[in-house]
Amino acid sequence: MRILVTGKNGQLGRSIQKIVNTGTKIDNNQSPNDFIFVGREELDLSSESSISHYFDNNDRFDVIINCAAYTAVDKAEEEQELANQVNHLAVKQLTKIAKDQKAKLIHISTDYVFDGESNKPYLETDTPNPINAYSRTKLAGEKALQTVMPMNALVIRASWLYSEYSNNFVSTMLRLGRERDELSVVNDQMGSPTYAADLADAILEIIRHKKFRDLAQTTQIYNYSNEGEISWHEFAKEIFKIGNIECQVNPVTSQQYPTPAKRPRNTLMNKDKIVKVFNIKISNWKSSLNTCMKILKQQQ
Ligand SMILES: NC(=O)c1ccc[n+]([C@@H]2O[C@H](COP(=O)([O-])OP(=O)(O)OC[C@H]3O[C@@H](n4cnc5c(N)ncnc54)[C@H](OP(=O)(O)O)[C@@H]3O)[C@@H](O)[C@H]2O)c1
Repeated sequence: MRILVTGKNGQLGRSIQKIVNTGTKIDNNQSPNDFIFVGREELDLSSESSISHYFDNNDRFDVIINCAAYTAVDKAEEEQELANQVNHLAVKQLTKIAKDQKAKLIHISTDYVFDGESNKPYLETDTPNPINAYSRTKLAGEKALQTVMPMNALVIRASWLYSEYSNNFVSTMLRLGRERDELSVVNDQMGSPTYAADLADAILEIIRHKKFRDLAQTTQIYNYSNEGEISWHEFAKEIFKIGNIECQVNPVTSQQYPTPAKRPRNTLMNKDKIVKVFNIKISNWKSSLNTCMKILKQQQ
């Protein structure tokens, strides 16, 4: 097996690398050497020619896991063309290559494809309606993938991704909480965080699964996040509680905290499909946050 993972320096890419390097969660027939991790230095998704060049100069892959993306939600409002190239056109090109190579493709998308106006957890079959530029490019990527590769690909929609790596909500809260006595965090956007290590585990579980290995599976979308429903305000409070940080968290509305990109109000997703099809066990958000914060503490 040759498994290509893009976005090697991102949260999810690094989380997959960490697990693969331990050798524990991979198939008995696999070795960590079967995984090839690439970043923008090797495979620049903003450049069509860089993508072609990379695949023209490497042997074919059996599986491609696309963790790379343009993820700067607010900046995407100004950089729509770049975001569209990386999240849509590059995904289309990668999908064509995967199809030509007869490789299976796993692509990561987002809960933000939904407008957040539903009062029920979103199902994979609910109609997306993105409300910002980033999410429009991510949805365009999903759609291109489904058109080019109606078989043998899989899209996983994640939400509120955090990890012990790089900048994310947890690391930002920890930094601000140590600097300030009080903070304002929105309490009218609901959802569920996704610990990148849990998603990485789920992806590795999926590629070991017989249903994934079987040929000729129709392309499917799956929702994935940790269990539980919270607001960003509750998330911040729990981060400070676990971290023993004395910082008051004041609830504010999205209207009181305007951002360049609008955020959906409620993007809780129903995860029954991924649980049932691939037998994935999903942890509660609090236990995963505890795990991540323990690792962060050890790194200090
Ligand atoms: N973060 C979230 O809250 C969130 C929520 C839901 C879904 N998702 C989705 O989950 C996936 C993984 O997200 P993440 O949080 O792990 O993202 P991340 O930490 O921002 O990592 C994204 C990676 O993509 C790479 N990248 C960006 N532009 C590139 C380009 N032109 N060519 C090649 N690589 C490029 C970045 O490279 P550099 O390191 O060189 O910049 C980075 O390593 C993405 O598809 C994202 O849309 C994320």
